[in-house]
Amino acid sequence: MTRLTLNGNAISLDVDPDMPLLWALRDTLEMTGTKFGCGMALCGACTVLLDGAPIRSCQTKVKDVAGRKVTTIEGVAGKVAEAVQQAWVRLDVPQCGYCQSGQVLAATALLTEKPAPTDDEIEAALSGNLCRCATYHRIRSAVHEAARALGG
Ligand code: FES
Repeated sequence: MTRLTLNGNAISLDVDPDMPLLWALRDTLEMTGTKFGCGMALCGACTVLLDGAPIRSCQTKVKDVAGRKVTTIEGVAGKVAEAVQQAWVRLDVPQCGYCQSGQVLAATALLTEKPAPTDDEIEAALSGNLCRCATYHRIRSAVHEAARALGG
């Protein structure tokens, strides 16, 4: 049994501790907002936050998050996350949408850390989140818009 905090709730996961966190989220907990992309930590579709920092859940074992705080797209909350999601909607960022839960979480972590990131800082922070629809320009604009809305 692995105990952790998921989206603010204390839970116990009765799965193989070596199971990838992504499988536990999607298959055991039926939380499918976190996507399976490459399975090799190369594309960022499976991004979740671990104690507020973006990680690749496909290459993170359940035992590695024991006692820690995991946040997924289903539970990300607070003023930064709200500003990000509002900017995403206003600028109509997603195309197919597959990468976008990871993009939103990575952007939320960035703006929590750096309230007014430069283009280079946005690029560096989100470079591990690939978008096959190439929405990068809108993602960058939405991060700036969320930063402005937050007063950064
Ligand atoms: Fe399609 Fe990013 S919106 S992969």
